[in-house]
Amino acid sequence: MIKLENQKWLEKAEWIQLIEGRTEQTSQFLFERAREIRNRYYGNEIYVRGLIEFTNYCKNDCFYCGIRKSNQDAIRYRLSLEEIMECCATGYALGFRTFVLQGGEDPYYSKNRMVEIISTIRKQYEDCAITLSIGEKDYDEYKAYYQAGADRYLLRHETADETHYQSLHPQSLSLENRKKCLWDLKEIGFQVGTGFMIGSPNQTSQSLARDMMFISELKPHMIGIGPFISHHKTPFSDEINGTLEETLYFIGLLRLLRPGCLIPATTALGTIDPRGREKGIQAGANVVMPNLSPVSVRKKYDLYDNKICTGDEAAECRNCLTQRMQNIGHQIVISRGDYKGE
Ligand code: 5AD
Ligand code: FES
Repeated sequence: MIKLENQKWLEKAEWIQLIEGRTEQTSQFLFERAREIRNRYYGNEIYVRGLIEFTNYCKNDCFYCGIRKSNQDAIRYRLSLEEIMECCATGYALGFRTFVLQGGEDPYYSKNRMVEIISTIRKQYEDCAITLSIGEKDYDEYKAYYQAGADRYLLRHETADETHYQSLHPQSLSLENRKKCLWDLKEIGFQVGTGFMIGSPNQTSQSLARDMMFISELKPHMIGIGPFISHHKTPFSDEINGTLEETLYFIGLLRLLRPGCLIPATTALGTIDPRGREKGIQAGANVVMPNLSPVSVRKKYDLYDNKICTGDEAAECRNCLTQRMQNIGHQIVISRGDYKGE
């Protein structure tokens, strides 16, 4: 751990050793280091992102995901430009200065439609960051989004191990293309976020070591991780969920590896433990991402079972998180919350 903190780089065998050396004691030591490093960059400030889940149509069929195209039981929806703008207005009034447009890979939102949405938000909210989380596109499409005013892009690599990747995804998706997308996004100038699930089926210390090594190489600005949680209408319905403890451990390791990174305490973490998000912050995270989607569609953006906050208004989540962060000595700030690393 000391070596990781000092060098910000480890060999594969060292990663495996660190991953397999997780105990209550090593975890507590790690979280202390992670908090100190996080505080050096961000103090006690926590950034909020307003998540707008604008479509749950998806052309992909990832084995873990509840909105995969083969799930006939999913009730599909799309938000109109007007509905998206209403979410932004609600969010802005609540102090959000980053909007995250997240959706399945939905061909209805063509390049032109996305450019229209992005530029409309950009015009109206000059002081806000726009983050996209809409999957794999080609270089020109990413470039058009950037030029329309998008600042950041989230695209989890899911796993950096080729065989593991194929066990989580259908043939139509490849790790190679996923990585290419991430490099393209970086080259275009986006602040880039990647990440992976903890405890996904067939994950090993080896594959996790590869995840950490890929992150060392990519040097993303944001890293989102959360436990895998099974969804009852997927091929992984009977698989075991990732654990709180392992997820927290990886938050800590990621903070040591990438000191200035924006790392969220995710909704999935809040789903497997009632105080998961607070614990995520105490393990080194510095971002929370409450939901701004209209309550009428919340339940339908159903990636995994028992997702929290599906019945709560945006204002309720905002207040809830303000309180939760205060209780652990942190403060949510009204800010775009840009990357502060080098
Ligand atoms: N459990 C946990 N996380 C999931 N995601 C998708 N399905 C699940 C699941 N069953 C995550 C993926 C994706 C992000 C938007 O949500 O990592 O990148
Ligand atoms: Fe949604 Fe607490 S964050 S209710």
